[in-house]
Amino acid sequence: MPFYEMLPFVVLAVVLTVGLSACVSPDRAPAPGQDAQHALLAEDVHSFARPEMARVKHIDLDLRADFGDNCLTGTATLTFEAEPGASEIVLDTRDLAIEQVTDAEGRPLTYNLGADVPHLGQPLTIKLPDEGDRIVVRYQTSPNAGALQWLSPQMTAGGKQPFLFTQGQAILTRTWIPTQDSPGIRQTYSARITVPEELTAVMSAEMLTPEGEAAENGRAFRFRMNEPIPPYLIALAVGDLAFQRVGARTGVYAEPSVLEKAAWELADMEKMLEAAEALYGPYRWGRYDVLVLPPSFPFGGMENPRLTFATPTILSGDRSLVSLIAHELAHSWSGNLVTNATWSDFWLNEGFTTYIENRIMEELYGADYAAMLRDLSRQGLLDEIESFGAESPDTKLHIDLEGRDPDDGMTSIPYDKGAAFLRTVELAVGRERFDQFLREYFDRHAFQPMTTELFLAELRSELFRNDATLEAQIDPEAWIYGPGLPPNAPVEASDRFEAVEAQAVAFAEGNPAVQLDTTEWTTHEWLHFLLSLPDQLTEAQLRDLDATFGLSETGNSEILFQWLRTAIRNRYEPAFPALERFLTSQGRRKFLKPLYEDLAKTDWGRQMALRIYEKARPTYHPVSARTIDDVLSGAVPG
Ligand code: BES
Ligand code: ZN
Repeated sequence: MPFYEMLPFVVLAVVLTVGLSACVSPDRAPAPGQDAQHALLAEDVHSFARPEMARVKHIDLDLRADFGDNCLTGTATLTFEAEPGASEIVLDTRDLAIEQVTDAEGRPLTYNLGADVPHLGQPLTIKLPDEGDRIVVRYQTSPNAGALQWLSPQMTAGGKQPFLFTQGQAILTRTWIPTQDSPGIRQTYSARITVPEELTAVMSAEMLTPEGEAAENGRAFRFRMNEPIPPYLIALAVGDLAFQRVGARTGVYAEPSVLEKAAWELADMEKMLEAAEALYGPYRWGRYDVLVLPPSFPFGGMENPRLTFATPTILSGDRSLVSLIAHELAHSWSGNLVTNATWSDFWLNEGFTTYIENRIMEELYGADYAAMLRDLSRQGLLDEIESFGAESPDTKLHIDLEGRDPDDGMTSIPYDKGAAFLRTVELAVGRERFDQFLREYFDRHAFQPMTTELFLAELRSELFRNDATLEAQIDPEAWIYGPGLPPNAPVEASDRFEAVEAQAVAFAEGNPAVQLDTTEWTTHEWLHFLLSLPDQLTEAQLRDLDATFGLSETGNSEILFQWLRTAIRNRYEPAFPALERFLTSQGRRKFLKPLYEDLAKTDWGRQMALRIYEKARPTYHPVSARTIDDVLSGAVPG
């Protein structure tokens, strides 16, 4: 039996010797050979669960989506596994109305809902039943549940039906499911979701009833996820949805009026899936579909297994923003298969994924293209480090989040610094050797949590093989535990970007826009061009750019975003109607936050921001609204 298959027994032995309530402290260095146990026992400061006592293994949901009251109501039946002698199980909840807790036979169980802790919610401690291994919690979600956004028909493309979607990462699943909401506690799930007659429910699971079945006051849809997943990946959406096939294992869900455009844009999904498999081994989740959501979805994408949730702002009409799909697909290995044990290890999810995303893009669209993406990533990273300060602890890959919202760790550091670190390793050991290491790593730890410490230990034992010179050359400690950008970070040179920079200089020196050579520029060249312009431009120059390239009117969200930042910086008023339209027609936090921040820097901008925000806030997802509340708090018009 390989060592990792013995782990459950080893863990049990450790738990029994250290006593039931003791947790292994995450900052104590693991003894040699005990690293993997360490990963399984990593303490999660963002969960009340005490898995060393009793843990949830399976969740069975029976919920009704009530679009009148904006709540989900019903039951979660939890199957648990307890250590001998354990008498209770602790779940995470937040803003849930708990109505009743029973065993599988309906006999009431004693429970206690503890005090509310900021960010974390309330622990729900339940006395274990005398018989059986199941607990039934009857509950209702709050209309303000952080994971749920209930959209009125006006906020959808069709305009006729309401829409609901969930967003669990990082610690929001507890606002719609009472369970142990820690990424290290994997659970399988099944569900029956009842929705109004005209609507369709989809989940991050196998769909057992694609057409639904008759149910009291509506239709019911059944689902099953047989692979154990961290709870942040449980996801649900309900709306007027249609499906179109893209490839043998891939397809798109969207509102009917968006479906055709979405399927065209995502035509390369099947090729991406094949490229990822060739690099890192078989795709383990069956199907890979994408759900294109209404524009208030606060993220670009979310890697819910079997069903990525995506913003419609990637539908540019020229397939130029599909690296986002490569990213979410890559999470099928890094994140969904091998999962950050705690939110301090978030870079293991996002840094690996950003690295793999780039490898997939290189396979599909060539080395030049991938080099441009890396160059943009490096620029973004340098800017982020500059804004934090090069010594800031928030620029470390492994970060301390005790007492903080894990959302605070969602900066470009785990993404771009994480990917730059892996690229540094790749360049030092050679691609072939690194690819093989990663492939074996995903196999070895499939369906398990991973800590930064364990990853580092494996890097040393499996890849560096105790070659001290190699390790000193890479210096993983500096990358992972140190701030800023280590001096051995690769400088990403892109010939195509050099050509773009020459055009930016020509324009800055007075050449009119029509004379610039922009032939065959892709989205990324346009982005680099806008970023390479001097900060201050004249009104005449801005007018020339806008008139020549139609920037204020572009349907490409990334280009529009960069252009609007340029416009705000220069108070270029002709672009402000486009700015207002953009801020009120989509809710992606990555776009909203910098634009509101830019506006908040000046008196005139603050006034405009507050006026637009008052109108837009009710249409934003709670995740985005909370962020913009912070940006504008204290921003009284001057
Ligand atoms: N898993 C993330 C989204 C996320 C992270 C949600 C943390 C909540 C908390 C997803 O894979 C992601 O990284 N999305 C990016 C797009 C990507 C191409 C960088 C986004 O939404 O911008
Ligand atoms: Zn990601």
